[in-house]
Amino acid sequence: MIDTINRNTPVSKQALIEGILQLKKEKNAVLLAHYYQDPDIQDVADYVGDSLGLSQQAAATDADIIVFAGVHFMAETAKIINPSKKVLLPDVTASCSLAESCTPPGFAQFLHANPDHVVISYINCSAEIKAMSDIICTSANAEKIVNSVPAGQPIIFAPDKNLGAYIMKKTGREMLLWDGACIVHEAFAIDKILTLRNEHPDAKFIAHPESEENILKVASYVGSTTGMINFAKTNPANKFIVATEAGLLHQMQKEVPDKILIPAPAEEDNNCACSECAFMKVNTLEKLYRCLLNEQPEITMPEELRLKALKPLERMLELSR
Ligand code: 13P
Ligand code: SF4
Repeated sequence: MIDTINRNTPVSKQALIEGILQLKKEKNAVLLAHYYQDPDIQDVADYVGDSLGLSQQAAATDADIIVFAGVHFMAETAKIINPSKKVLLPDVTASCSLAESCTPPGFAQFLHANPDHVVISYINCSAEIKAMSDIICTSANAEKIVNSVPAGQPIIFAPDKNLGAYIMKKTGREMLLWDGACIVHEAFAIDKILTLRNEHPDAKFIAHPESEENILKVASYVGSTTGMINFAKTNPANKFIVATEAGLLHQMQKEVPDKILIPAPAEEDNNCACSECAFMKVNTLEKLYRCLLNEQPEITMPEELRLKALKPLERMLELSR
């Protein structure tokens, strides 16, 4: 079957799916996918989850190969945590606006100008930034991680200023914030969301904490992608307006097949009421197939950097048990 997929001829979706499933088996590869991946990719994955769940899966797997259907910092994190595995990313250009906002020289300068702070970095950053941090967090455990720092100890939180501001409010802790943001979550339009809420008074509005404060303060629930799914599952409401990347609705709808899910509108939306992360969506079934077949592109890094980046990730995993 696999040999019949010719490099130069277009192949059917079904042939790609079958090829991916066969290659995974042959090579003892595990496919980890983030909720923001294309629905077809989510459907062939062995595990679909949020950043914390994906890191935990990467740490625990006994597969020989981890294929990461997500963005670069996620695959890099898997390699840092589980270096004996071959870690593949279908498209190495799958970046993230948060990771890009925080360059190692700029961050080094920021830390130098603000000494004696505990440095908490959101997992959406490069290995170099992780290596300069004391603890890593995700949106699922940020509150817990911040609360683990002794009272009175100054904290730097990077690179997401929106998540940082939200956690400051939740914990009552002052933190020095790096000025980064997610381009997808910053695009939600509060006016359109309020109008939609008026049109659907029976709907609960739920949002990801990478969104801006004006969005978060009108939400009935704020949490990670997994947290949002769990809320939709356990809350008695039958309708939810969902402010996060549109890919999440695929998995959420599977979990709550009888409930109505409405994607929150973004500023630019005209015809489609959805928000897609262009970085996440560079991965395709075809790239995934080629990546498994050729075992490329592979994520590697200098061992010295990996060991430095591992420490704050281990602290996060320890605190998240
Ligand atoms: P979580 O899935 O951890 O909530 O993160 C969302 C996100 O933006 C990942 O890039
Ligand atoms: Fe980065 Fe935002 Fe895309 Fe997540 S959704 S990968 S935070 S740009």
